[in-house]
Amino acid sequence: MLTDSLCPLRIVEHFEDKCTVLCVVRNVVQHRLHQPTKSIIMSGYKPGKLIIEGKTKQVYEVIGDPKLCILVSKDRITAGDGVKSHELEGKAAISNATNAKVFQLLNQAGLRTAFIKVIDETTFISEKCEMVPIEWVTRRLATGSFLKRHPGVPEGYRFNPPLQETFYKDDANHDPQWSEEQIITANFKLNGTTIGKDEYDIMKRTSLVVFEVLERAWATRDCALIDMKIEFGINSTGEILIADIIDSDSWRLWPSGDKKLMKDKQVYRNLVSVTSADLDNVKRNFKWVANQLDHLVPPTKSSVVIFMGSPSDKEHCQKIAKHANALGLNVQLRVSSAHKGTTETLRILAEYEGSNEKVVLIAVAGRSNGLGPVLSGNTSLPVINCPPVKTDNVAQDIWSSLNVPSGLGCTTVIYPESAALAAAQIHALHDHIVWSRLRVKQLMNFIALKKSDAELKNL
Ligand SMILES: *[C@@H]1O[C@H](CO)[C@@H](O)[C@H](O)[C@H]1NC(C)=O
Ligand SMILES: *[C@@H]1O[C@H](CO)[C@@H](O)[C@H](O)[C@H]1NC(C)=O
Ligand SMILES: *[C@@H]1O[C@H](CO)[C@@H](O)[C@H](O)[C@H]1NC(C)=O
Ligand SMILES: *[C@@H]1O[C@H](CO)[C@@H](O)[C@H](O)[C@H]1NC(C)=O
Ligand SMILES: [Mg+2]
Repeated sequence: MLTDSLCPLRIVEHFEDKCTVLCVVRNVVQHRLHQPTKSIIMSGYKPGKLIIEGKTKQVYEVIGDPKLCILVSKDRITAGDGVKSHELEGKAAISNATNAKVFQLLNQAGLRTAFIKVIDETTFISEKCEMVPIEWVTRRLATGSFLKRHPGVPEGYRFNPPLQETFYKDDANHDPQWSEEQIITANFKLNGTTIGKDEYDIMKRTSLVVFEVLERAWATRDCALIDMKIEFGINSTGEILIADIIDSDSWRLWPSGDKKLMKDKQVYRNLVSVTSADLDNVKRNFKWVANQLDHLVPPTKSSVVIFMGSPSDKEHCQKIAKHANALGLNVQLRVSSAHKGTTETLRILAEYEGSNEKVVLIAVAGRSNGLGPVLSGNTSLPVINCPPVKTDNVAQDIWSSLNVPSGLGCTTVIYPESAALAAAQIHALHDHIVWSRLRVKQLMNFIALKKSDAELKNL
């Protein structure tokens, strides 16, 4: 059996196909040179040695850049430890498209991934990582192998929060389920990073966020993400990144939450005999998934309009804008005084009322805040007051934002970041990208605290 120090890079099929780990020691395969395609060469990335080849993909070095690698998908579909295996023309291109769109979505949400970019129909560039030999499985509904391991639990049992499981990628032992304690005790050392409790926690929390981000995205297409698996790698600077490939082999996807409509590789796994019509059907499903992914990013961005009572409040408003942009919101700044130019304020407000777009208003007015309450009294759009309070006069300045007449529902925060977060939370109700940015921001806070703690406790 190959140990992990010998074999940091492994290729594995779906998490339900235990014992499909294919592990190739780099040096053994590196002499097998392949003819690189014209488009890879034209992309400016020259493929070097073949690092590893699995049933469904090849990984090459990039000549001149040791930090990158090239992943090439193959037209092959396999299941059950390769017992079932078929050539499926066009599968590599579909996998490329699915994987690229999923990683673009994760990157857009702000997650750290190894994916860099697609360079041709079947090929993408990734940061070169040493792979953590663990499959991180997240489940919303109980199905598949979970039911076998937990007799009595009905299929469709809902996990809130999603259930997380880890499997050690060890073909000789059929990818056994591993506990947190087993993973920490294994003491994996990859690219200078030792996988301990902190690293375990970070990967566990990140897996959950990946699942939630994709679950929300799929929900916009009326598809239930049932479960999925991901893997992590450690890049050359020791950073934990979401790596490997995420495609129709990585998840269960049930349109309208209906198992009978499943669109993932389970369809292939379930086949007893495989006809060419069956394979066409599997391919149609995979293609459908790749096409659906085109619609996962909302066409227009959710907007925030920051009204300031005076241009002297610009700096405060720009702080709000910076935070709002970072959360994926579109921001506009407007100057209008409700005290000195009420009709103009209401005219500007009417522009947004009439736009039919989803807009959250933030009112920034120093001293007595007439602006927020006037806006709020004249619109059903949400209004958040964020007065630029002066430290010597906080109690006075804040009062006009809080003590509003009956019938008004504007809310008040005093920090620019809070205003942006409050607006994002409102938009997150309908915009899954904003929801994802919020979720990832919480994850990044969690990771940053862990890192600070690790640094300080070792001082
Ligand atoms: C590969 O993925 C990229 C990114 O989604 C896409 O533009 C390209 O069309 C895909 N190739 C094929 C053959 O589907
Ligand atoms: C990190 O991993 C990459 C890819 O395997 C390797 O090229 C690099 O030398 C490693 N760096 C360290 C510090 O281990
Ligand atoms: C490793 O990943 C981190 C986080 O994404 C990134 O900042 C760093 O530049 C990466 N290292 C390399 C060598 O690309
Ligand atoms: C709404 O606008 C009118 C001006 O048209 C103003 O007199 C009124 O005070 C506003 N309502 C509230 C509750 O502020
Ligand atoms: Mg894999």
